[in-house]
Amino acid sequence: LRSIALANQKGGVGKTTTAVHLAHGLAMTGQSVALLDLDPQGNATIALQGMVVDHPDESGPFGLLEALRDGFFLLPSPGAQRNLSRDATLDADRLVGLAQSLEEAGLQWLLVDCPPRMDAWGWAGLQLCREVLVPIQPEFFAMHGLSQMMQTLEEAERAFPGRGRLLGVVANLVDMREPVEVEVLADLAGNLGDRMLDTRIFRDSQLVEAASHGLTAFEYNPFCKGARSYGELVREVLDGGS
Ligand SMILES: Nc1ncnc2c1ncn2[C@@H]1O[C@H](COP(=O)(O)OP(=O)(O)OP(=O)(O)O)[C@@H](O)[C@H]1O
Ligand SMILES: [Mg+2]
Repeated sequence: LRSIALANQKGGVGKTTTAVHLAHGLAMTGQSVALLDLDPQGNATIALQGMVVDHPDESGPFGLLEALRDGFFLLPSPGAQRNLSRDATLDADRLVGLAQSLEEAGLQWLLVDCPPRMDAWGWAGLQLCREVLVPIQPEFFAMHGLSQMMQTLEEAERAFPGRGRLLGVVANLVDMREPVEVEVLADLAGNLGDRMLDTRIFRDSQLVEAASHGLTAFEYNPFCKGARSYGELVREVLDGGS
């Protein structure tokens, strides 16, 4: 099982959009993928609503897998149906047990969408995953936010040996017509070396439209810039296999 958490303490950088598209893209290569929505906001769950084919009975939050498409499953956030307070409690050990049973059942990928905070939910995401993919937006403060995130990952690796290793940083919401973005991306590549992925996820309003229809861009418009960017990310993650 390859397990990847999408994490960044900074909000709105594309953790959810990347989790959803990487998960669906991997499933489209014929592998089995579960996406765990570990954000009480439940954005990933809502963004995939239109793809649910199966209405499981109530066995409680995180106890159930919803089938979306061939090989693509969702573990919905309990926060998508009812309002959860930001500090709603979470049974991390139960999630670790769930991940183990999914692995024993032959699941090939577990992707975890983390909230924009390192609270109990965010930590559980790092505890569950061997690898962490950090989306960033190429803006002036990106490097500063990133160094906080790197410290968090070092703490996670100490707390949970074998977990929370940085798979890479991926630039999202990229618009190469903005000269400052070109500059920031060059700085990031200089600072991060090969921890910066080659793939860039371009800014594309069709990603927002797809989510508003409860679909991924692969279904909404497979030829749009967003879908092509995420197709490239899927290939890069598969090539960087561990
Ligand atoms: N490449 C992109 N092009 C255009 N819009 C995007 C792109 N990536 C993300 N968005 C949009 O930006 C907003 C924030 O993205 P997203 O929800 O994925 O970020 P997040 O890091 O999960 O946010 P949060 O920290 O609140 O969980 C959403 O409206 C999403 O549709
Ligand atoms: Mg999110």
